[in-house]
Amino acid sequence: MNRPTLYITRLLPQSVLEAIPQQYRLLSTPSDTPPTASELQKELLEADAAICTLSDRIDASLLAHTTRLKVIANYAVGYNNIDVTAAAQRGIVVSNTPDVLTDATADLAWALLLAVSRRIVEGETWVRTGTWPGWSPTRMLGAQVSGKTLGIVGMGRIGQAVARRAVGFDMPVIYAGRHSITSPPGAAWARRSLSELLMESDFLSLHVPLTEATRHLIGPRELATMKPTSFLINTARGPVVDEAALLSALQTGTIAGAGLDVYEQEPIVSAGLLALPNVVLLPHLGSATLETRVRMGLICLKNIAAVLEGRRAPNQVNGSAMKG
Ligand code: DGY
Repeated sequence: MNRPTLYITRLLPQSVLEAIPQQYRLLSTPSDTPPTASELQKELLEADAAICTLSDRIDASLLAHTTRLKVIANYAVGYNNIDVTAAAQRGIVVSNTPDVLTDATADLAWALLLAVSRRIVEGETWVRTGTWPGWSPTRMLGAQVSGKTLGIVGMGRIGQAVARRAVGFDMPVIYAGRHSITSPPGAAWARRSLSELLMESDFLSLHVPLTEATRHLIGPRELATMKPTSFLINTARGPVVDEAALLSALQTGTIAGAGLDVYEQEPIVSAGLLALPNVVLLPHLGSATLETRVRMGLICLKNIAAVLEGRRAPNQVNGSAMKG
């Protein structure tokens, strides 16, 4: 019997690689360098199943070259890197990794929120570079976090996890989202329109997927609506924010600061942002804990096994994948 072929576009944690069923034939040894477009095309042509990452762009023209591919397990909760409709038309199931990265990503949004408002990176640089002049009542003053209003754009799993963490900081939570969400005991989350949210939030945290509707959701007009004392936190997808408009808003004091984990052209970050002290910049670390990355890999394998065994993938995101 032919062994199913598996292509993994990037090196995954060891315990995930060890969990790959023996009956699969790995097409190549996974490496930590992103594949080129032609490598991706060549490997997908021979694969029955693939695990790919958010930086692998799998569009309709790439999918048109596949002949035996049955399932793409995206190693991420967001799947804007894949043309899921084109995949469905070719009968290819696409799956993602929901739930397991919710806490890690929500924790990181809070890390950014605290870091930018309390000037953690600037302060640490003082200490490390030996330029700390000593304690002072007036230097390195940040913005108070406790008691301020937290605004969440997109109240899905991660948005709600960020909101739940606000209880410990006595922060009222307001949100803009497609549905009304029931607040957990002890909290009173209030739904707002996006423009109300922009006006009222002291911290605005983004948790929407990247779609055509959310591309540049936060642009010059939205930034101008925000308080000059407010902070923008983005752990969702870079293109949800118009990065050039954000840069200008940070340079001119339209908003007080930003904490960013994602960028419009990853891994490129605008030179202007690099030069600003009122922004904390992380290299897309939302899900980057060992525990989470292992769970993400195991979910990918579970989805692949389901499809190869003729069952529905538990985390299928592209409807019923039917040959067109
Ligand atoms: C995701 O899964 O979409 C995250 O951005 C990965 O870190």
